Amino acid sequence: MKNIFDIEGKVLILTGGNGFLGAEYVKALSEAGAEVVVFDKNSKAGTAVDICDEEAVQKAVREAHQKFGRIDALINNAAMNPAVGSEASKKQFVPVEDYPVELWRQELDTNLTGMFICIKAVVPYMKRQKKGSIVNVASEVSNIAHDHRVYNTEGKYKSPAYITSKTGVLGLTRSMAAQLGMHGIRVNAFSPGGVLNPKMPEDFVKRFGESNMLGRMAQPEEYNGVMQFLCSDASSFITGANITADGGKSAW
Ligand SMILES: NC(=O)c1ccc[n+]([C@@H]2O[C@H](COP(=O)([O-])OP(=O)(O)OC[C@H]3O[C@@H](n4cnc5c(N)ncnc54)[C@H](O)[C@@H]3O)[C@@H](O)[C@H]2O)c1
Repeated sequence: MKNIFDIEGKVLILTGGNGFLGAEYVKALSEAGAEVVVFDKNSKAGTAVDICDEEAVQKAVREAHQKFGRIDALINNAAMNPAVGSEASKKQFVPVEDYPVELWRQELDTNLTGMFICIKAVVPYMKRQKKGSIVNVASEVSNIAHDHRVYNTEGKYKSPAYITSKTGVLGLTRSMAAQLGMHGIRVNAFSPGGVLNPKMPEDFVKRFGESNMLGRMAQPEEYNGVMQFLCSDASSFITGANITADGGKSAW
């Protein structure tokens, strides 16, 4: 039994690997023995790749394949998701009449189109291998709406493009799963709940925690196991699914 979760030697492409949760995945999956190739437009580690740039993504995937000889999994984790309370989050937390269409386009492009571009690039390699796992990171708001009551009054409305893109991730996941299943390629969505981040205001953390059955926000390392599971043979008959880890929030 213990070997079915084994990812030793697997080659995983992880987008957004230099972000808050991406860095956790890099650490955990590397410790489990995987080769983790990071695509992030912030290039502090790995290859500087903008996932919205199809040519750049195709080139980076080609280079990863040349280097490692295979691509076992793609984890589509990159998104525009500044932590609540951070300076960057301020333009995303505005009432709809003040929310710029340009930002809407940018968020959909990053969170959804960029994901599609990465899937398109890895599929030919996975088809040749007759095997692969694609994990599309959505959010608890792929199942439910943001409960704006947990935010502070000023700028309390999280961007409509975020929930729209994350719900779209589920459609993209089902579409790709249906098309690629006969090639041995599994495609699943992963919907995590809010994670505790030191940038967050205390009252928000309290209210957010109270909104789920476990009474707290997630710790950053609590999703590593789901990632390993979805990249490993332990999930070999799971495809087209949306794996939710939201402390029971959407079941309440
Ligand atoms: N943190 C949470 O509480 C939470 C909750 C639910 C879902 N999520 C999802 O988990 C994922 C990771 O979230 P996070 O909190 O670590 O976010 P983050 O902002 O810390 O990290 C996102 C990373 O993606 C990269 N990125 C953004 N646009 C890119 C582009 N065009 N090309 C390449 N890289 C790009 C950024 O440089 C950054 O390193 C996201 O998909 C997010 O929506 C996070």
